[in-house]
Amino acid sequence: GMFFDNTYRSHVNLGKENSACYYYSAENGNLDYYFISGEKMTDIVEGYTYLTGRTPLPQLWTLGHHQSRWGYMSADDIRRVAHKYRELQIPCDTIHFDIDYMDGYRVFTWNEKGFGAPGAIIKEIAEDGFKVVCIIDPGVKLDPGYAKYDEGIANDYFAKTPEGEVYVNEVWPGESVFPDFGRKEVRDWWADHHKELLDMGIRGIWDDMNEPASFRGELPQDVQFHDEERQTTHAEIHNVYGHNMSRATYAGIRKHTGKRPFVITRAAYAGTQKYATVWTGDNQSLWSHLQMMVPQLCNLGMSGFAFAGTDIGGFGADTTPELLTRWIEAAVFSPLFRNHSCQGTRRQEPWQFDDQVVGIYRKYVKMRYCFLPYLYDLFYQGEQTGLPVMRPLVLHYPKDPETYNLNGEFLVGENLLVAPVLEQGATKKMVYLPEGEWYDYWTGEKITGGKYFLRDAPIDLCPMYLKEGTMIPMYEKMAYVGEKPYRTLYLLTTPGEASYDHFQDNGEDYAYRKGVYNLYHFHKNAQGVLETEMRHKNYPEYEQICLKIVGK
Ligand code: NOJ
Repeated sequence: GMFFDNTYRSHVNLGKENSACYYYSAENGNLDYYFISGEKMTDIVEGYTYLTGRTPLPQLWTLGHHQSRWGYMSADDIRRVAHKYRELQIPCDTIHFDIDYMDGYRVFTWNEKGFGAPGAIIKEIAEDGFKVVCIIDPGVKLDPGYAKYDEGIANDYFAKTPEGEVYVNEVWPGESVFPDFGRKEVRDWWADHHKELLDMGIRGIWDDMNEPASFRGELPQDVQFHDEERQTTHAEIHNVYGHNMSRATYAGIRKHTGKRPFVITRAAYAGTQKYATVWTGDNQSLWSHLQMMVPQLCNLGMSGFAFAGTDIGGFGADTTPELLTRWIEAAVFSPLFRNHSCQGTRRQEPWQFDDQVVGIYRKYVKMRYCFLPYLYDLFYQGEQTGLPVMRPLVLHYPKDPETYNLNGEFLVGENLLVAPVLEQGATKKMVYLPEGEWYDYWTGEKITGGKYFLRDAPIDLCPMYLKEGTMIPMYEKMAYVGEKPYRTLYLLTTPGEASYDHFQDNGEDYAYRKGVYNLYHFHKNAQGVLETEMRHKNYPEYEQICLKIVGK
């Protein structure tokens, strides 16, 4: 593996003119190359994430279903979405507040006209299990009298022109200024402002527009920023601006809640995975963008970002019933599981479409909630190994050339293979299973791998396969994480011998790092007898373990 650690504008050419030749250059800065050696591709991912950091174990609820839209314009709008999810019995944990919850797009303020008394709607929907994530942009409105602006000016916290004036460009609030997040003092100031939001009941922060984006052209290269106390320019800082903003946000949430911070960021650099999950930005409601999801999320995973997702249904343009249906199926194991769409497009909550869409949407979201302990185990393991949740087949079958260009299927962990339908109108899927024995998730049929075959995939079916010898931990369906305690663990397993390690803790804070957790080792012998060995025991155990054989 190779890592070029250079934050200046760079060019990468992976054999465009000549497939024998890769080319990399950066406009300035040092040529810091890191070479990572290893026998296997998994060793390289481990080594790279050892160097740049690993995605930490998230809170369990963050792996649930998220609903977002730009823009929910009022508390009423939010209330209706929350009620509808419960009424239709489609599980949902989180609602995202895009920029309209703010007063004139001033960060760390509240739009009382549309959203009522600060925090009231957050508390109201929290009674029904909903968590709120709100957006924060870096651009601070140039507005004397607005506290955040005044404080930043008084303390000299904003980026400047080479002549020493505060640099101004335009973003949502109009004329805006940009915090110099490279300085610790500025990050600490920004971090502490999150306390006001957290005290209102906000559970996570969505850092957007932090390239930084600007409407009057990109920031000139010579705008003055800092790398800690060293003065430097936008040319060097641009690619780590989002990284430093995420770092500040993470620190603020951690300091003021003591829980595992939930931060989503649009811009990132190598290592941002330590602080934030990423989403792939403004995609469109197009089949080609659904197809892109698989290689995008697999590549992000291979690059350390185990926690990533796309805007389900597509952000820009109008989605269709079929596209939304196939997207929710394909994304059911996407680490970040959020439906989001742009203002001016057709609304994209499942009930905007017919009963068939609602029914299939419900089926897959419920399935997501059943698989939560599996995803959580993968994050727990990933914290130690750097291996992602969603993986390209080549990661585990590097000697099989059929896996090299396979962009239409992926693995979840090592032993669950998902082959979603990604083409309009298709009701069959050409599936490739690598070597070994596999079981069809839906029918239990045993299939010997090392071949392609055609699988029927009607509109409500996403083909999935379990590798022989595995177990997958599952929970019962709930409307949201925390609705009821998880008393029963289900183990979905293939016939014959199988084994699995499972982690259990409170799903919220850092107690597990002080030993407050259980680690189960399950082994089922060829006769079907399950043995449980507690490899670590310091948390209330499940009351029941139920074994389920795939397809039966
Ligand atoms: C750009 C983001 O990518 C998008 O997700 C968001 O809805 C808009 N900004 C408005 O905040």
